[in-house]
Amino acid sequence: MARSLSLFFRSTIRTGRTPLVATFRSFSTSRILREHSNKIIFNFRSDTATIPTDEMFDIMKAASKGDDVLKVHEDTSYPICLLAISTDATRNRTPIHSCNPNHSRAHSFQTTNPSPSPTTPLILRIQESRDVNDLESYVASLCGHEDALFCVSGTMTNQLGIRSLLVQPPHSVLLDSRAHIFLWEAGGIAFHSQANVTPVVAKNGVHLTLEEVKTGILEEDVHTAPTRSMLYRSALVQTMTIIHADITSRHPVIALENTLNGMIFPLSEISRISEYGRSRGIKMHLDGARAWNASMATGIPLAEYGRHFDSMSLCLSKGIGAPIGSILVGSRDLIKRARHFRKLFGGGWRQAGSLAAVARHCLDTIWPTMPGTHALTRHLADSLRALGLGLAFPVMTNMVHAQLAPVRLTVGDIAPHLLQEDIRIAGKPDATTSRLVLHHQITPEAVETLIRVIGEVVRAKGKVVEKAESVEVGNAMDYPAAN
Ligand SMILES: Cc1ncc(COP(=O)(O)O)c(C=O)c1O
Repeated sequence: MARSLSLFFRSTIRTGRTPLVATFRSFSTSRILREHSNKIIFNFRSDTATIPTDEMFDIMKAASKGDDVLKVHEDTSYPICLLAISTDATRNRTPIHSCNPNHSRAHSFQTTNPSPSPTTPLILRIQESRDVNDLESYVASLCGHEDALFCVSGTMTNQLGIRSLLVQPPHSVLLDSRAHIFLWEAGGIAFHSQANVTPVVAKNGVHLTLEEVKTGILEEDVHTAPTRSMLYRSALVQTMTIIHADITSRHPVIALENTLNGMIFPLSEISRISEYGRSRGIKMHLDGARAWNASMATGIPLAEYGRHFDSMSLCLSKGIGAPIGSILVGSRDLIKRARHFRKLFGGGWRQAGSLAAVARHCLDTIWPTMPGTHALTRHLADSLRALGLGLAFPVMTNMVHAQLAPVRLTVGDIAPHLLQEDIRIAGKPDATTSRLVLHHQITPEAVETLIRVIGEVVRAKGKVVEKAESVEVGNAMDYPAAN
């Protein structure tokens, strides 16, 4: 099985920018990891634990170098400064022409790597960051939305999304009790949005249902945090929306997560919740840190998911493998508002082009490899079950929540043996569950080693006490998903 999986991955190597087939590069991955760390460590703790490659650094070097914060002037009525500078003027730093607001949409200007000649005036569009613009418009169109905002982290894009959908307290956000936004973002909703949170338990252990969402919606009452949900519009429209929202709903935002613990939220249920929420004036946010995985695993385009949300946060530094970054998508109004809040949060970044360029490269080359990662994850889950371990959640994408209790072991029993083989796993020594996360740099060989070592420990120390149940669903804090 191991051999055939390995052959499968190697035989599907593809090159080119957007091959939508499973690919895997175990040999080159090993070389890359060795080059960068002198020692290959296969880190199953998170899909954030990928290593930037030399190729990525080359792409960064060639990226656009303009300022992304100054781009804010583009869609406003502020006059912007276009500096036409002769090469002499460049030397003297003297602009010879400036400040024409009519030139504000300057996409057509040459902005990167200008090669000045002594006679040619050099036109610099100082606020341009072409690679950031390209990434934002590409992801917005993938998700079927108008605009996008490239940011430093998934926490930031989640919090900006929620903050930009809300207006002012009292207001609240309804979400899954296991949601990253709720448990693992340092109380950001309270801090940034001053919002109340209504966590709802998903009884099926996989996803919320519309019926559960309905039970979480508070009736209009002076004691509750009522609805204020709208975009940044004129005072008149805001007032009308407030009145409408007060009458029709109590929650400003429903936030869903897809995938959650590696599990896919069915599109049909998302659609029911969204339809119901929106009919009551409630805004919909998606924590789609791993929506890439959901889309690849189901074949459902991101835009199909996107139709049901007002804002979506998609991480680029997890399964996509980019070194840094996450992106928020939404309407033009929403992103304009989020851009303003990003500055307020201290998250405006200047020459971010290199990070955007490498993120785009990863989307084109690593995203298509996800089916291979998912197949390897399935193989790992099946093999651990065969050894007598349990699975806390159904395995649908790139995560296995392996339960050691059925074989009477703890993480502390196996982690040191794995470390000797350069494999790192998550979990405190006394924990009986470990979340194993796969990504494009986890090779089939590393997975086989993991299975072999766990098998050896089970045979030496463990005890199969019962046939593991197919799926046990646990409590939110038992399965830390902070990354
Ligand atoms: C589901 C989910 N959402 C959001 C985030 C936040 O991403 P970041 O670590 O980039 O802030 C994470 C982090 O792992 C996550 O797993």
